Amino acid sequence: MKYILMLLFGSFISNAQITTEQLNLMPWPQNIKLTAGTFALSKNFKVNITGNPNPRIFIGATNFVRRLDGRTGLFLEQSFLTKVNESPEAELQINCVSNGKIEINEDESYQLTITSNKIIINATNDLGALHGLETLLQLLQNNSTSYYFPVVEINDSPRFTWRGLMIDAARHFQPVDVIKRNLDAMASMKMNVFHWHLADDQGWRIQLKNHPKLTELASDGNFYSQEEMKNIVKYADERGILVVPEIDVPGHASALLTAYPEIGSKVGEGKITYEVQRNSGVFNATLDPTNPKTYEILSSIFDEVCPLFPGSYFHIGGDENNGKEWNANPEIQQFKKDNNLANNHDLQTYFNMKLIPILKKHNKKLMGWEEIMTENMSKDAIIHAWRGTNEGKEAGGALIKAAKSGYNTVLSNGYYIDLMLGLESHYLNDPIPKKIILSPEEKARVLGGEAAMWSELVTPLNIDSRIWPRTAAIAERLWSNAEVNDMNSLRKRLKMISFRLEELGITHIRNKEVILRNISNNQDTRALNDFSNLCEPLKNYKRNGGGKKYRMHSPLTLFADACNADASEAIDFNVAVNAYLADKSKDNKVVVTDFFKKWISMNSDLIALSANAPLVQPLLPLSKSLSDVSEQLLLLMDKKQKVNQALLEDLLEKCNTRSPADVELAVYGSLKNLSQ
Ligand code: ACM
Repeated sequence: MKYILMLLFGSFISNAQITTEQLNLMPWPQNIKLTAGTFALSKNFKVNITGNPNPRIFIGATNFVRRLDGRTGLFLEQSFLTKVNESPEAELQINCVSNGKIEINEDESYQLTITSNKIIINATNDLGALHGLETLLQLLQNNSTSYYFPVVEINDSPRFTWRGLMIDAARHFQPVDVIKRNLDAMASMKMNVFHWHLADDQGWRIQLKNHPKLTELASDGNFYSQEEMKNIVKYADERGILVVPEIDVPGHASALLTAYPEIGSKVGEGKITYEVQRNSGVFNATLDPTNPKTYEILSSIFDEVCPLFPGSYFHIGGDENNGKEWNANPEIQQFKKDNNLANNHDLQTYFNMKLIPILKKHNKKLMGWEEIMTENMSKDAIIHAWRGTNEGKEAGGALIKAAKSGYNTVLSNGYYIDLMLGLESHYLNDPIPKKIILSPEEKARVLGGEAAMWSELVTPLNIDSRIWPRTAAIAERLWSNAEVNDMNSLRKRLKMISFRLEELGITHIRNKEVILRNISNNQDTRALNDFSNLCEPLKNYKRNGGGKKYRMHSPLTLFADACNADASEAIDFNVAVNAYLADKSKDNKVVVTDFFKKWISMNSDLIALSANAPLVQPLLPLSKSLSDVSEQLLLLMDKKQKVNQALLEDLLEKCNTRSPADVELAVYGSLKNLSQ
């Protein structure tokens, strides 16, 4: 009896009512009403679906049951859901009124009601129901022995209709499984557009049966077969995700022109040829907009690409045409004069406008990077903003200009995750900044945004750690209210969300250890791991020194590839230093000095490790500088000892110089604050 009472008491204590703030939901829902009570999960838990949904909900619900079972180990009875009203007695009832379309501006709302013995998801269609299932998985709680959901009512819908992730599969090819696991992760963050960058100077990645030369000559054997692409489009559809293909023209065309040099703009003696680029950067290869053959070939390429992608949008790139080949070609210059085209922008608009009917034939709307927005560009085009800022002093930029000029528009500036900037810069980048006044019509043209994963410095090994978890913060910015913008809350919730992404196969956590093991030459990785939690890869493309240091075949298995934006221990250290500077209590001091002691011994460990690990050598100068500064600051904080301020400054600057390992110390600012 005493034992039973203890068990009851124990479960009472650990099921204690949680608060809304304790929920690790992301993106944060529009409306949450949490009340006392729990729904206990048991082996008999089942799902039932009613209404007129698209069959994707059966796959979504089955995946939901498998993930729930994987987390809880309950051996849930239910196997595969295949039809409506299979288990009318089920505890989870999903009702979808209608069949959701994979389109922009579709109703994605859902209502999730959890009571002590029933869970109900009501949605207009299956797209909303899928979102409801993701929210439900995020609500799962546990005590020491069992799992349960809190009693809650959630009403939710997105703020923006376009919540995307772009993956560049051209610079570094990203195989099918990389794309699929990222589609799963996107769906878990309620993202609904996958923008697939399929061709660029460094490679052509899409098999075309009418144009085999493209993959034969310009893919190095790395491309998606048509079957693979159809399979990915179907996989995305099952997760409520629209796929938007991008074939970048007229610039970024080295791969296309390697196969079809006759439609390039280059002039010169003898036979004109192009080659696939091995470096990063902006190249000259540009299609000839004056040559009818250009449109013949593009038309025939688009005729084959378009049917692979049932969605309504086709991205033609249009960015970074440097105009050099056009300027150097007398026939193109004459064409401009003959056709009253004042400059290269007008010539590019002439080119873009020719693509509109080719795409219209396939019911596709043209989308392009912001350079396509010129005076005469069709208002049917979607403008993809990517340069300058959207927030801050110069707020607005191309996105706001596009919305005011009558274009639908999507934001990517501020969401370039390949810049390796911290969470905050992305999270607080609102598509419609507070100080920008837009009419309701203009606001409605701001469709949303897209995280941009350019792949100059990513391979299947490290790509997930560049996309996640920061893209979850972007997903929240695009789904949740503008007022949901507290960094502390975001960081707290992201710890759980980041861990949950592993459930979907995302490798951002585990592949770090794979890289560190390689660097350590299969020795103990603890010191490397500690150091990696203090370092961040160089930001704003500084790592690649103007696109020359890393070629497309260079190793991306280095220390910088194991490091992430928002270095975790650096964040903890910065908090500790701020607390100490605000209140120099003994306790606050110990927290800071413990870091220094740890880093001094970490440096010794790295030196020891390097004896049999050449890849550790490039880290040693920075680690030594940190260790030296740590020793000086220990003395300084001890007060009994004088430090040589000039020496300290000198050592600090060494912590702030470019490391041969292409990383920077994310604790530099706090070290400097402490030294003053
Ligand atoms: C781009 O980053 N060139 C769109």
